[in-house]
Amino acid sequence: MAQRPAATVLTYGTFDLFHAGHVRLLARLAQMGDRLIVGCSTDEFNAEKGKLCVTPYEGRAEILRACRYVDLVIPEESWDQKRRDIRTYNADIFAMGSDWTDRFNDLRDVCEMVYLPRTDNISTTELKSRVLARADAAK
Ligand code: CTP
Repeated sequence: MAQRPAATVLTYGTFDLFHAGHVRLLARLAQMGDRLIVGCSTDEFNAEKGKLCVTPYEGRAEILRACRYVDLVIPEESWDQKRRDIRTYNADIFAMGSDWTDRFNDLRDVCEMVYLPRTDNISTTELKSRVLARADAAK
């Protein structure tokens, strides 16, 4: 019987305060192929975007590496590295959560583009504001 070629899935994100929305996205991505590669944004890249993380890059990457769905973690250092990464890692599918819908469609000439629905009612931003609200209430 002919075997289908192995498929590599590539995704990017910050993954700060790792939460169930992240886990569910990674689980669905892992099901779409045989190898899941995650580009984790570096602290320098986040600074360029004006984004401040609770956990520094090394900690976020370590948590991602420990996740059973993830095969490889690479640093995401710029907006324009994606085309190069697709080629370097032979990615077949480029996938992101639906908050990024249509943002990377220009990569359709080099791989399949997929946007998956986000998990409702959870995000890093929401977790941060919940902690701040609790701290305020405790004053
Ligand atoms: N994601 C998801 N469901 C959620 C939150 C995130 O599927 N509830 C996905 C995003 O769509 C993205 C990946 O997880 O593809 C990494 O998202 P990230 O921006 O790191 O997480 P957020 O919780 O959205 O962080 P923030 O609130 O800082 O934007």
